[in-house]
Amino acid sequence: MYLCSRFLQLDFNMKIFSTIEDVKSFVQQQKLNNQKVGFVPTMGALHKGHLSLVKTAVAENDVVVVSVFVNPTQFNDKKDLEVYPRNLKADSELLESAGVTALFAPTPDTFYSPEEMNNTFQFDFNGLDAVMEGKFRPGHFNGVVQVVSKLFTIINPDNAYFGEKDFQQLAIIRYMVKKMGFNINIVGCPIVREESGLALSSRNALLSEDQKKLASNIYAVLKESTTFFHMTTVAELKEAAIKAIERHDGLKVEYFEIVDANTLLPVTKWEDSDYIVGCITVFCGKVRLIDNIRYK
Ligand code: PAJ
Repeated sequence: MYLCSRFLQLDFNMKIFSTIEDVKSFVQQQKLNNQKVGFVPTMGALHKGHLSLVKTAVAENDVVVVSVFVNPTQFNDKKDLEVYPRNLKADSELLESAGVTALFAPTPDTFYSPEEMNNTFQFDFNGLDAVMEGKFRPGHFNGVVQVVSKLFTIINPDNAYFGEKDFQQLAIIRYMVKKMGFNINIVGCPIVREESGLALSSRNALLSEDQKKLASNIYAVLKESTTFFHMTTVAELKEAAIKAIERHDGLKVEYFEIVDANTLLPVTKWEDSDYIVGCITVFCGKVRLIDNIRYK
């Protein structure tokens, strides 16, 4: 459940806004005072991965706005939306201690009109959404572009921060910014991992301790594959990595694609590009985990 932001505000120095008008006029005022504005969009249930983006934003800007909004239009699976972890009070505490100036935490019905909620918004991704997450989660990136473009219009930051963990999302946001003509600098931030190698994710909260151990095999296999990739073909490496992950009962690979990091098109040979990443999605039980690794 969403907590009332007015109630929350009593406990914090950080500004907490729940309406578009309030956060917009706050940021406009900051810009009139020549403050450089950084923005970190999130869906909450914050962990050290999110906080690394926030810390970079705090270091590089005068004012930092973080949004916490579980965006319904990017969930193609209603059940996934229902179980998505939410904890606005804990998130607010973390953001305040990280030095954030303002938190924007709207509810779906204050953020979207009924038409927007039905997500009739259609964005042309120039093929960037035809693979991987876009293929397996139809409509997902339409919802991401819908929410991020709306947030960008409201906040109009100088810099916006995104994690490389969601590699395809970052590529799509960069494309969107160019195509829609936003004057916003997009900063990509490296993946933060647990000591075990498991990429931090809000969804990890849905894993048992045993499942977390199991899921750490995803990165172990990816990392090992970077040590011998040049000795195999792309197809052989893909097959070997999938087998090595699925050898562990309870892990099931949805896709593993080795792509050109700029176009996201699959490569067939290592010489096809100078910048190649492997992007993977694995089900650990019912929990869907994503990760990626750079080969060159
Ligand atoms: P969310 O999953 O909450 O992630 C918010 C930001 O944190 C994203 O840019 C994501 O890539 C980054 N992030 C998550 N885990 C990370 C990790 N382990 N290391 C580094 N960065 C990490 O991504 C979304 O929300 C939404 O799609 C959003 C962009 C907010 C639009 O609704």
